[in-house]
Amino acid sequence: MEHVAANPWASLAYLVAGVCFILALRGLSSPASSQRGNRLGMIGMTIAVVTTLVTHIPRIAPPCPTGAICENFGTPVLDTLTLVELLVAIGIGAAIGIVTARRIAMTAMPQLVAAFHSLVGLAAVLVAAAAFLNPGAFGILGDDGEILTVSRIEMGLGIAIGAITFSGSVIAFLKLNGNMGGKPILLPGRHVINLALLAGILGLIAYFTQDQSPWIFWTVTVLSFVIGFLLIVPIGGADMPVVVSMLNSYSGWAAAAMGFTLHNTAMIVTGALVGSSGAILSYIMCRAMNRSFISVIAGGFGGDSGGPAGAVATDRPWKRGSAEDAAFLMSQAEQVIIVPGYGMAVAQAQHALREMGDKLKAHGVRVKYAIHPVAGRMPGHMNVLLAEANVPYDDVFELEDINSEFAQTDVAFVIGANDVTNPAAKTDKSSPIYGMPVLDVEKAKTVLFIKRSMGGVGYAGVDNELFYRDNTMMLLADAKKMVEEIVKSLD
Ligand code: TAP
Repeated sequence: MEHVAANPWASLAYLVAGVCFILALRGLSSPASSQRGNRLGMIGMTIAVVTTLVTHIPRIAPPCPTGAICENFGTPVLDTLTLVELLVAIGIGAAIGIVTARRIAMTAMPQLVAAFHSLVGLAAVLVAAAAFLNPGAFGILGDDGEILTVSRIEMGLGIAIGAITFSGSVIAFLKLNGNMGGKPILLPGRHVINLALLAGILGLIAYFTQDQSPWIFWTVTVLSFVIGFLLIVPIGGADMPVVVSMLNSYSGWAAAAMGFTLHNTAMIVTGALVGSSGAILSYIMCRAMNRSFISVIAGGFGGDSGGPAGAVATDRPWKRGSAEDAAFLMSQAEQVIIVPGYGMAVAQAQHALREMGDKLKAHGVRVKYAIHPVAGRMPGHMNVLLAEANVPYDDVFELEDINSEFAQTDVAFVIGANDVTNPAAKTDKSSPIYGMPVLDVEKAKTVLFIKRSMGGVGYAGVDNELFYRDNTMMLLADAKKMVEEIVKSLD
């Protein structure tokens, strides 16, 4: 690959791609600029892919059976493929990506992301294995005919992080997709086993720098697959969002390690950006859910964190309201705060909700939306849905910016949210969500809750004390249907 590094145009193109990625991340930090951020990310990736292809094309056609051209141009990674084969492979990948992206339900996004991470991990493993099996083709042989020491370290780390990302992401996918129970599986002595495995992997990578025997390489690979599995299995459903974001970070580091092996600057930069932004997001989410960052990445410290559970049987008294009641209460209010949650996403009620907000505003009511950082099933889930329904960004507030306002609010309108409003998080030490900051909806004069039945529970599988309070009115129905009826009543 030396010719790529030596090619100033390629270096410049990779630099431009890197800047695009940084600006993309900046854009994605707010819903208002997220589309621009996405476009910049796509432009950066196109520049990176085209640059890589262009700088390798001389080595793709004509093919290089004798190795003479390969030597001339450095690492002949792509020499085994013709340009046509390469474009066909890209086409197949792109087609699968487009069809998947179009078909996937918003609610299944977390498992899709986990599945994609597993592919990045697997790619890192395959690249490291290819480099190990054919080091000459990757230009990583020293004068003594052995793999360069620095390349052995890159390769060892790449395969370890890649394999952990792969097996961890597969488990996360199975859990999020419901193929495996969301409850934590706690093996006895798991921390000792994990620490021993980690020490073994690091020790073997160190030994690999001295001895490039295949058994060391493959043992690191197998141990890393095993530790990835063991790290994720003990993590309960409620911590899964953090896990997905951590695996996102791991997949970035795996890609960066691959970039070193392939001597590709764009991959190193992109991998480092994904790795560090994923780690920062995980940290922010841990704070939002009051989880210890270390305990989540170490795998299941405090892994008694629940997960989807069954219905709650209750015979406590509660108050039922109708769409007309809700419409009347809200139309008389000075301020209504809408709290969307997972149920809004399931019902796809965001468009009807926006219509309801508009009608209330026409009645002179001040309408605001309160977003909990882990409402729904993925980071930014509610923001995306509200933006899709064209809810004005200025009406949407984060938890810390709006929580103090509930006390001065007439109606808190909770649509398909449960855990993120549950006061047990503040008071009940035995609750799986204890310690998670929640929206203080109960401080509003009246709380309206839309859900389908009294038996249904939220993600953490626990009942919500608020359903039975005097100032609460339950609106039992599918969220979209209920909101549409409220809209009619407001007319
Ligand atoms: P949940 O606590 O899961 O509550 C969802 C509520 O929506 C339930 O009360 C459910 O009751 C109701 N519901 C479901 N379908 C409905 C429909 N069609 N119409 C009306 N109501 C419906 O949601 P939340 O408050 O948004 O909390 C999110 C939870 O998910 C947290 O525990 C969080 O840790 C976890 N989690 C978050 C993420 C991220 S990153 N956001 C990822 C994974 C997990 P019924 O069944 O009775 O209708």
